Amino acid sequence: MSERPPVETLTAAAAAAELAALAVEIARLDAAYYQDDAPEVTDAVYDALRARNSAIEARFPDLVRADSPNRRLGAVPAAGFAKRRHLQPMLSLGNVFSDADFAEFCARVRRFLGLAEDAGLEFVGEPKIDGLSISLTYENGTLTHGATRGDGIEGEDVTANLRTLAAIPARLAGAAPALIEIRGEVFMTKADFLALNAEQERAGRKLFANPRNAAAGSLRQLDANITAGRKLSFFAYAMGEASEPVAETHADYLARLGAWGFAVNPLSRRLKSEAEARDFQAEMAALRAALAYDIDGVVYKIDDLAWQRRLGFAGRDPRWAIAWKFPAERAETRLEAIRIQVGRTGALTPVAVLQPVNVGGVLVSRASLHNEDEIARKDIRVGDTVVVERAGDVIPQIVAVIMAKRPRDAAAFVFPDRCPACGSHAVRVAGEVARRCTGGLICPAQAVERLVHFCARGAFDIEGMGEKTVAEFYEDGLIRGPADIFRLAAHEAEIAAREGWGEVSARKLIAAIAARRRIPLARFLFALGIRRVGETTAKLLARHYGSFGHWRAEMTAAQVVGSEARSTLGNILGIGPAIAEELVDFFAEERNRAVLDDLAGLLEIEDAAPMGGGDSAIAGKLIVFTGTLTTMTRAEAKTRAEALGAKVTDSVSRRTDYVVLGLDAGSKARRAAELGVATLSEAEWRTLAGFDQE
Ligand code: IVH
Repeated sequence: MSERPPVETLTAAAAAAELAALAVEIARLDAAYYQDDAPEVTDAVYDALRARNSAIEARFPDLVRADSPNRRLGAVPAAGFAKRRHLQPMLSLGNVFSDADFAEFCARVRRFLGLAEDAGLEFVGEPKIDGLSISLTYENGTLTHGATRGDGIEGEDVTANLRTLAAIPARLAGAAPALIEIRGEVFMTKADFLALNAEQERAGRKLFANPRNAAAGSLRQLDANITAGRKLSFFAYAMGEASEPVAETHADYLARLGAWGFAVNPLSRRLKSEAEARDFQAEMAALRAALAYDIDGVVYKIDDLAWQRRLGFAGRDPRWAIAWKFPAERAETRLEAIRIQVGRTGALTPVAVLQPVNVGGVLVSRASLHNEDEIARKDIRVGDTVVVERAGDVIPQIVAVIMAKRPRDAAAFVFPDRCPACGSHAVRVAGEVARRCTGGLICPAQAVERLVHFCARGAFDIEGMGEKTVAEFYEDGLIRGPADIFRLAAHEAEIAAREGWGEVSARKLIAAIAARRRIPLARFLFALGIRRVGETTAKLLARHYGSFGHWRAEMTAAQVVGSEARSTLGNILGIGPAIAEELVDFFAEERNRAVLDDLAGLLEIEDAAPMGGGDSAIAGKLIVFTGTLTTMTRAEAKTRAEALGAKVTDSVSRRTDYVVLGLDAGSKARRAAELGVATLSEAEWRTLAGFDQE
């Protein structure tokens, strides 16, 4: 923004061009924010763009565009949900950033109402939580609809999802109007956000950028069961349509909301003057860091509802309320080093080590650098003077490098291609930003997490090997890798002697481990904790490859790019190239293969039954494909035949049940004829395999 010329110096032509560009840019940012739940810039940057747009429009009123960001609100509803028209539009709020701005807001209110310059104003101050606003419709006291804001006129009908929130009553307690729209904010606490992201990471799913996105992503799930599993909170704070008056002041309205059974933010407070509002702003700013949820300012609302009605709206903002935003907390400091941390799932995360600096009352000595692309994009170098900002996010960010202060010898940062914790290769999977350590089973940074997963339900399911025990045993060197678990029997006495243990519990643990020496292949594969190989994928792999030995051999063969084993792996229905790549990377690491073999020697890994085996006409048949198939590749044909329980080989023998003849079939067709083996055309093969009924 700083490089844009002052608005006062703009020519009409330059203003028109900039308004056109701003309309496009803000629309794009809105879509990223509202539809994809993935903001591209910080709120401060967004607000600055909007402020610039408004300033240009104010100077050139004739140039205000039909698609001006000030004429639109948010974004149109996303596809996937039914639309719901709000009975009263859901509007937005104007922003102020300073005492002077707030005083100007108050002056505007007085002018509009024709009050004296020093007339008293009473407000309610409410922490402005960064979540997403929703509207709830109650008819005769019963919740009938719930919708997101959408474009302010129409939102997404998320009634089923909202019903899963404990803070939203299904019925209003006590007397209520026949019809009322109640509005408030759905949000996620910082702790619930961190726990959700940890869970997302464990499951190999995408992480949310901040609590607001996590809340939006959790609410806008087409399957309400997913919403129910997420911890969403809600505070009620506003009113839409109401069939009869419910209060005379906003403070009384909040009290009624509480009586009806809603959660109302306990920090909301009636403020009897402009001075009290200023004090409240300072109080909330001081409290901000300690709150369980992110706030980005305070909303001040004129308390008297009759005054609110008189004040009404100007464009998209009410004249009776304002959001007083906190300033972005920034400071300059020196970047002393870039450290690479290895997360529990193997992601290599660069962390900026800073000369400690006070940012808005908090001493900051570390900042997130996200990933290697981010470092390259911002050209961040050790020795640089950087600007750090604490926004809503928990971790401070580096927002800019001050190039003028760059030391002459500062070198571009080279991201390591080895894991700093275990020395294994660190690779980037196509389409991902993170570089990951491939030493899953041997990397100390990932060990405890991996071992816990290995022992968890769905995997080895070893009773008694929870997080605490695994961490203790790992730290004391009793177990270093998964195979060590099956060698614990030799340490039974040692375990019994540990604090908090005893002979009985040690014996029980050893017995629980022994009971799991026999394990179905699918569970074994899942237990390995290979990225993206969840329970479903593990089952697909098990059914496809059948035995541990076959799987291991095929994964080794798949190391060769262009090999049949590689293409087969990527063609297994439900697997695809991303998972195939993870498996290939896992096997490329020799130490992972060593762990597998160690385990295989200690365990009895049960073969898996082929998929859909029994009921297919080709189950158990020995099939050879030859020539060029026209409706699918040879690799797909093989994969799908195997999925139905057939065995596919390359050479024709007396034991062969069918030879499938593609175009230009040569010697194998002749051999089939010589041996009297049945041959099938591609079409006959499709019919027999049941593909034509798909
Ligand atoms: S009142 C017409 N009160 O801020 C008034 N909004 O920038 C409408 N917000 O979309 C909003 N806390 O998502 C109001 N106590 C509060 C709020 C609040 C957070 C959000 C809300 C709204 C946005 C406006």
